[in-house]
Amino acid sequence: MNSAKEISAENIYFELQAYWGITKHMGGLKATDELLALCHITPDKYVLVVGCGIGLTSSYMAKKYRCRVLGVDISAKMIEWSRKRARKAGVTDRAEFMLADVQDLPFNDNLFDAVISESVTAFPPDKERAVSEYVRVVKPGGYVGLNECAWLKKPPPELDEYMSRTTGGHFFTTDGWRELLAGAGLRDMIVRSYKINALSQWLYEVRQFDANAFFRAWYILLSQYTRSSDFRRIIKDTYLAGLSLKIFHQFFQYLGYGIFIGQK
Ligand SMILES: C[S@@+](CC[C@H](N)C(=O)[O-])C[C@H]1O[C@@H](n2cnc3c(N)ncnc32)[C@H](O)[C@@H]1O
Repeated sequence: MNSAKEISAENIYFELQAYWGITKHMGGLKATDELLALCHITPDKYVLVVGCGIGLTSSYMAKKYRCRVLGVDISAKMIEWSRKRARKAGVTDRAEFMLADVQDLPFNDNLFDAVISESVTAFPPDKERAVSEYVRVVKPGGYVGLNECAWLKKPPPELDEYMSRTTGGHFFTTDGWRELLAGAGLRDMIVRSYKINALSQWLYEVRQFDANAFFRAWYILLSQYTRSSDFRRIIKDTYLAGLSLKIFHQFFQYLGYGIFIGQK
């Protein structure tokens, strides 16, 4: 188990998720099904899932869509969770995982039928590079599909700053995401944007994670917080600084998510 000292202020968002074995994207499996349908995923397809996290989508699609999946993530701990999940789901013959940075994918050109990114592309510092890597490794005629948080309208600076500080990510507006994908050479773009519904999102998450994982996460958070002054300082400086009812309210007013699909 990591100590609070190993959970640094710089990458607390992912350190905690890897530590808990919980990752997520907006819209849950309903949004995943929408994304996969728009990317025309069928059993004969070879799909790259970038930033696969704990491997929920990878195992889900290997099982339900019976396609071949390669999941990559920058965190070794996430890859461990993904492999464990694939074993549990009985899909290790179709779902493999490896460490890789989306900004520098270790694959030949034109290899995959589709590249899927769910709540990932907001995080690498060089997003143009990441998207051009997706386009490079997908076959001509293949699909690049993103589900990413998106500003539904230009956010107040304090909300933008709070979200960047607490997640380490940078979100574009819906148009910004569209331009990023179009700039990488994708065509026939499909863009759909959605508001975040707190209750539905919570229900998606409760349904996706087993109760053990959910309670373990809360137990770890509370016990770290009670025991470690380092951890309390990181939480205070990262999450609690600048947090107010106003920020909470603005979050649901301004932040949504979008599904962005383009064909190579
Ligand atoms: C918010 S989580 C989403 C995980 C998963 N897609 C899901 O929907 O549950 C973002 C994931 O992207 C990974 N990630 C962040 N930056 C990355 C990079 N440059 N290359 C590869 N993976 C990255 C993180 O380690 C984390 O697992």
